[in-house]
Amino acid sequence: MPVARVPRSFARMKAALATAYGGPEVIRIAEVPTPTPKSNELLIRIHASAVNAADWRLRRANPWFVRLVFGPFRPRRPILGVVFAGEIAAVGSAVTKYKPGDRHFGWTSLMGLGGHAEHIALSENGAFAPMPAGMAYTDAAAIPFGFCTAMDFLRKAGVIAGQRVLVYGASGAVGSAAVQLARSMGAEVTGVCSTRNMELVRSLGASTVLDHTKDDLLAHRNSYDVVFETVGKLPFEKSIALMKDGGTLILGSDLPADKIKRAFTGTGGRKVKVISGTAAGTGDDMRLLAELWEQGKVRPVIDSTFPLERIREAHVLAESWHKVGSVVVTMP
Ligand SMILES: NC(=O)c1ccc[n+]([C@@H]2O[C@H](COP(=O)([O-])OP(=O)(O)OC[C@H]3O[C@@H](n4cnc5c(N)ncnc54)[C@H](OP(=O)(O)O)[C@@H]3O)[C@@H](O)[C@H]2O)c1
Repeated sequence: MPVARVPRSFARMKAALATAYGGPEVIRIAEVPTPTPKSNELLIRIHASAVNAADWRLRRANPWFVRLVFGPFRPRRPILGVVFAGEIAAVGSAVTKYKPGDRHFGWTSLMGLGGHAEHIALSENGAFAPMPAGMAYTDAAAIPFGFCTAMDFLRKAGVIAGQRVLVYGASGAVGSAAVQLARSMGAEVTGVCSTRNMELVRSLGASTVLDHTKDDLLAHRNSYDVVFETVGKLPFEKSIALMKDGGTLILGSDLPADKIKRAFTGTGGRKVKVISGTAAGTGDDMRLLAELWEQGKVRPVIDSTFPLERIREAHVLAESWHKVGSVVVTMP
């Protein structure tokens, strides 16, 4: 039963809707009812969100199994947006940990989505955390997707100080976060990106930067304890060749077809561990990221910021494969 008192001015809100699968043109801005929080929920006034790979993949139903989960013919959840940064506008009657006015950032819910709107109702046990004083909403919105994904995979790989870690796709949302987090874990990081992003990747903490448009990566065979392939563009055999025996290959952008192919080819006789699957972000991860941000150990990279009204342009950039870090969207 809805119990929070929602101010009358919140009765309707602007949201970006994707009511069909397809290109950025399926997105339109509309007025929809503001959600009413249940007793254990918070109503959050969103100030900024981001258009991430998850959003364009859901919009395009790419890969195909998106349709099995989100609807075979059209998306059941038309408001995309897996992250948010905002302030609490109202709380349900059973909520004790939060109060209106608190600023939080983190994940919406993958099954409910809803970040590309002025308000969202979320369980008080959701994957979000208080924003540190001084953090801008736009920066906060650029953190959860890339950093939680990178942190989850780097943890699973057990990265420790002194290891050599190669991050392929080091200028993207996941890659730019992986470079910084691996560095903060004490690893020696090599970043791979195109020529125009080399300075950026160096500034994020990579001691070596290779150019995927010019450098021969195979000159660095058997060199890395961990290879984190963030973009799914480096052939599997090449990734394996870069690794030391006993190393760990993280495939952050592994599609079903790649998995099936690997089931036949294996690792080509190399003794390496392969990690793939879906990364997850938790409230504890968000609190840790807030601390790392306060200590100056991580900083989000933002390609561009668009107002909600121009969210189609944000989608075009997000699916270009050449954005740098994150594409942020701000609410009216
Ligand atoms: N497993 C999971 O749970 C999970 C979670 C999050 C994301 N993902 C997946 O991970 C992938 C990456 O996400 P993202 O948000 O980081 O993507 P992104 O930000 O869109 O990646 C863009 C970057 O990719 C680089 N790039 C493009 N082509 C390249 C190539 N041929 N070689 C090397 N780098 C290249 C570009 O660098 P240059 O312009 O410098 O070439 C650009 O900076 C997506 O497929 C996403 O679906 C998976």
